[in-house]
This record gives sequence, C-alpha cells and structure tokens, in this order.
Amino acid sequence: MRYGFRVRLNAYLASAGVASRRRAEELIRAGRVCVNGEPAQLATRVRDSDVVELDGREVLPQPRTYALLNKPAGVVTTARDPQGRPTVVELVGQGTRLFPVGRLDCDTTGALLLTNDGMLANRLAHPRYGVEKVYEATLAGEPDARALERLRAGVELADGMTAPAKARVLHGDGRSTVVEITLREGRKRQVKRMCRAIGFPVEALHRSRYASIVLRELPVGAWRELTAAELASLRSAAAQRLLAADRSGA
Ligand code: URA
Repeated sequence: MRYGFRVRLNAYLASAGVASRRRAEELIRAGRVCVNGEPAQLATRVRDSDVVELDGREVLPQPRTYALLNKPAGVVTTARDPQGRPTVVELVGQGTRLFPVGRLDCDTTGALLLTNDGMLANRLAHPRYGVEKVYEATLAGEPDARALERLRAGVELADGMTAPAKARVLHGDGRSTVVEITLREGRKRQVKRMCRAIGFPVEALHRSRYASIVLRELPVGAWRELTAAELASLRSAAAQRLLAADRSGA
C-alpha cells in the first residue's frame, strides 16, 4: 500500500505488523524508531516516501488486500464469535488477516468490505467522511409519501436525530415494500431503528452499495478482490470528504 497522505507513526508501525498502536508508541518514546535517519516523536507523521526504521532496520508496509464479500444472512461481522457462529473473516479466509469495514447485522446480507489497510478502513467507517451506504429494506406494509419524507428529513432515535438520507420505493406487492435507503452515517442497526420509528419494521435488509462499490454478479457468500479502479475511487471518496470537512472547519 502506498500512503499518498501522512499517517501517524504509531498507526504506520501497527499497520506494518510491528506492534499494536500502543506498543508502537512505547517504541517511539524509547527512541527506537527513526524517520529519515532522525529519532521520531510521538506526533511524527509519515508518508510513503519516508524511511521508517526500528532499531536500525527498515520497516516496510505489509502488502494490502481489499476484499468485497456478498455477506449471507447468519454470518457475524466480527473476527471471532463467542457463540461460535460463522464469521465474515472466516468466509474470506485469506492468508493475511482482514478486518471488516464497519458492520452488518447477522441477518443483513450484501456488500461488506474487508481489508488489512487500517487507515483506509478507519476513514471509510468514520462518520466524518460521510461515505454513502445504500440499503434495500423490505418493510412490512406500504409506507406513504409522508413516511418516506420522515426517513429523508431525519428520525429521532434514542441516540439522537439521524442525518438527512435518501429514500425511494423500488417495488412492493401491497403486503410489503422494498425501499432503497441511502445513508451517510453508520450507527448500530440504524436502518432497522429508523424504519421501526416511522412504523414500518424491517423484514429483510440488504446492502447493495458501499461508497461506489457494487456487488454486480458476486454470488451470496462469495468474495472478490477490489479492482484497481474500485480502490482508487474508494480512496478518492475518503479524501474528498476529508477536504470538504476541513474547508467547512468540521
Ligand atoms: N442498518 C441496520 O439496521 N442493520 C445493518 O446491518 C446495517 C444498517
């Protein structure tokens, strides 16, 4: 992975597999880490052109892997499940350990990214970067225009008002309706709580898109590596939101 932007030195060391972020801080404090030949400080930030050394040995970043999984229902979005349920990490089963970017509920299906690029994963999952997530929610009943407008305008939840969202009906059969909901937040069980709050419980939930990444023909339970173009678009989405947030002083 090439870092075009600067990252904190402890995060760089952690992502290179040297130590946890906390242990990396101890190594920096102990004066064992140099950047471009100079002893590093805790606040030091590095980019890919910098030479980072630990005890005089160069620390190179680990090769990065970016996977897209079409998550099936019944699989948990954690690295390990105390209840022994299958996990998304086992499904992707790479030699390198990958971590999910954000989470989907056990019964939610669809697009889930996994990577060992902690920096990009943090950016994508952090609400500050406002990455779009698109869901297809099957709702019991037929939400009317007013109900959809409530989803768009924001719904009062126990953890506060939701940010403006997009919502449109895809199809329905009178008994249930599939509504496409686009969020820039990622609170726990957000879609289900929003829909319940407006009186239409979710019967099934599928994520069709994460940022610009769509499943296309990927079968349920299968995964594939992101293409170079998809990765570039993810990186630029995260960077653009950061620039926008910096300009607005957020
Ligand atoms: N919102 C939910 O309610 N559940 C998910 O899995 C994702 C978003």
